[in-house]
Amino acid sequence: MRARRSSVLVFLILLAYTVPAAGFQAPAGPQSAIQLASQQDRQKMLDLLHITSLRTGANGSNPNAPNAANYDESKANPYPTLPDPLVLKNGKKIKTAKDWWNNRRPEIVEDFDREIYGRMPKITPAVKWEITSTANETNGDVAVVTKKLLGHVDNSAWPQITVDIQLTLTTPASGTGPVPVIMEFGFTGFPGRGAGRGPVGGLSPPSGPTWQQQVLAKGWGYAVLSPTSIQADNGAGLTQGIIGLVNKGQPRKPDDWGALRAWAWGASRALDYFETDKAVDAKRVGVEGHSRYGKATIVAMAYDSRFAIAFVSSSGEGGVKIHRRAWGELVENVAATNEYHWMAGNFLKYAGPLSWNDLPVDTHELVALCAPRPVFISAGATNGDGWVDAKGMFQAAAGAGPVYKVLGKKDMGTAEFPAIETPLIDGDIAFRQHSGGHTPLPNWPTFIIFADRYLSKPQ
Ligand code: GCU
Repeated sequence: MRARRSSVLVFLILLAYTVPAAGFQAPAGPQSAIQLASQQDRQKMLDLLHITSLRTGANGSNPNAPNAANYDESKANPYPTLPDPLVLKNGKKIKTAKDWWNNRRPEIVEDFDREIYGRMPKITPAVKWEITSTANETNGDVAVVTKKLLGHVDNSAWPQITVDIQLTLTTPASGTGPVPVIMEFGFTGFPGRGAGRGPVGGLSPPSGPTWQQQVLAKGWGYAVLSPTSIQADNGAGLTQGIIGLVNKGQPRKPDDWGALRAWAWGASRALDYFETDKAVDAKRVGVEGHSRYGKATIVAMAYDSRFAIAFVSSSGEGGVKIHRRAWGELVENVAATNEYHWMAGNFLKYAGPLSWNDLPVDTHELVALCAPRPVFISAGATNGDGWVDAKGMFQAAAGAGPVYKVLGKKDMGTAEFPAIETPLIDGDIAFRQHSGGHTPLPNWPTFIIFADRYLSKPQ
């Protein structure tokens, strides 16, 4: 009995620390060395930007707090007008695909680079992939081959920092040719919680096949990338990992890349490897991630046109949620000590001296950067996943529509927020809100139906 109780306790503690629920706020208490070092790094950035104070974020855990997160639609749209993705900075409207690629898209990329996610360095060190083990296994009733890999990042320019990217790749053993692969940003280290059927967001795992088994049932493979092997998930780590390596251990400049772009960079390096592996059809690789890794997923998809499709789950603020929306998590929360490292230093300005409305771009334009490639955007119910703002993400999906149309693709078909559990999957931008909480699991079957249209045949 006692053993059982203590294992339940250990499980709950692990859950609390590995799966921050939406709106999770660290309990007050003595600060860890990581928190202190993050605070110092963030303060250095604030000093560089001459910012003396920032607004406080929304409180997601106490509805009676003066700054309680807003879940009232009538108060959610203080800045209802979004920048037009088809209007150039000089005020001219663009109408052709050529204008999009040559003129408007580069403007949007520059704004996201400078103000939001930071610039990836022009030259990043080479990555040498090593297969550390190959195992013949079964998953469910499918015979598979699982390779564990390490991507050794060349650190000859700064040997004090070592970065070894952790990746697993599983493909059907019966593979008659290269197969599509869905790669997940996994939640832990090697091989990653994402590789199993662990509970997400505090929910019990649903019965039925895991996402990996659903993918295998299509004849596809799956991969799990460990983001934190690329870049730590805290501000203290910004002088380490791939960002620290390129900066030779020095703190970031205001437009340097943050963790989201670093994680996305790692996903691109994994795709480089897939291009060399005969088991994988690298033209049919999808990327998927949930919550903070949903943010990494949309960034990876937006910046690397080799990714064929994306499943962006509960990405919320800093991901697909419209920054100008006052619902759940806000810009100010992402500017706080525990999250600012995801973004460029310049992003802090919009939580202080500037307002959300001063952002030169919003997230419908991030989705538009993925065009013409298919993107599936998902969230859970307000009760359980309200923090991520399903409607704000739907609006971004809808707002990207005109760009998809200019490129000859189909938008979502509606700008009206659908009833819960209504799949909008007929266009090239897809959306579904499931009735559960902060988890991607209930949307996997719908994503696979959507993805099948694009991945079932070689491109
Ligand atoms: C927190 C954070 C979110 C993030 C989430 C997660 O809730 O505020 O932005 O997406 O953690 O990654 O689980």
